[in-house]
Amino acid sequence: MGQFEVSLRLVVTGKIPNAGLEVLRQAGFTPDAWMNDTAISRQELLEKVKGADVLITLLTERVDEELLQAAGPQLKAVCNVAVGYNNIDVAACKSRNVLVTNTPGVLTDATADIALALILMVTRRLAEGERVIRSQTPWQWGMFYMLGTGITNRVLGVVGMGAIGIATARRAKACGMSVIYFSRSEIDSKVATELGAKKVSLEELLKTSDVVSIHCPSNEATHHLIGATQFAMMKNSAFLVNTARGPIVDEQALVNALEAKEIAGAGLDVFEFEPKINAGLIGRDDVVLIPHLGSATTQTRDAMATLAAKNAVAIATGNSPLTQVS
Ligand code: GLV
Repeated sequence: MGQFEVSLRLVVTGKIPNAGLEVLRQAGFTPDAWMNDTAISRQELLEKVKGADVLITLLTERVDEELLQAAGPQLKAVCNVAVGYNNIDVAACKSRNVLVTNTPGVLTDATADIALALILMVTRRLAEGERVIRSQTPWQWGMFYMLGTGITNRVLGVVGMGAIGIATARRAKACGMSVIYFSRSEIDSKVATELGAKKVSLEELLKTSDVVSIHCPSNEATHHLIGATQFAMMKNSAFLVNTARGPIVDEQALVNALEAKEIAGAGLDVFEFEPKINAGLIGRDDVVLIPHLGSATTQTRDAMATLAAKNAVAIATGNSPLTQVS
């Protein structure tokens, strides 16, 4: 590798696992990495990206026109350490010939595990039960105590049948659920047969599912895809699970639907105005709320950082990235 390449400025805008930094160092780069546990402030971020050739970003950093301008015209790529890239203005990057990459594949199972966990937690009232114990509220086993809803022989409706949607469907099927899905794209016919999954309209999915699980990307087309009208279509006994991105669901409409008992409950890993949580959700026992843990395993985060770093190295050395978004 020539001097020119290793002198490129690679900026890592948030703390990432060493596995990722090692990939950069092994390739001869000296990354300028934000090493604090707390996220970088916007002001510091705009300073830090100055003169960067490649940015490695976390989903908490907004990559917009302002940031691209702060970085400068030499910027070649933004390598997100996430599969979702709604934090990045892809069109703005494209118009500046800045490549965008993400980290698909490596977090599929971890995220699907969390979707299944939320399905079980919300249908079986597990968080609510845990709160009883932790608050030392008196309790006693009883025939009618804290009854939930079984998922065997129930219908899972997957919104967005990409890799994570499919992995969630597999898990749900193993638990005895049948699967229907709504998706922009066709899935592999072998996978559809294996899962016995039927493609339906969003309306049919909402009307038929006992659990609706969101797995589509967050973009203009999917903003508030699930809102008041959609909640009104769902069964009163149905549950909503979201491990994708908060803005896909109109959070206030969700609170209203829960309040009106239009649906039975929700399991949420992501929130519309993350990390802020709608006050109307906090006190409810019919919701399970966890802090964006979809990909939060040590192994998965190592793999995400490694893939993002490999993308960065490929681009910095004039090669094609492994997982380019646009
Ligand atoms: C996590 O939320 C991701 O998009 O990778």
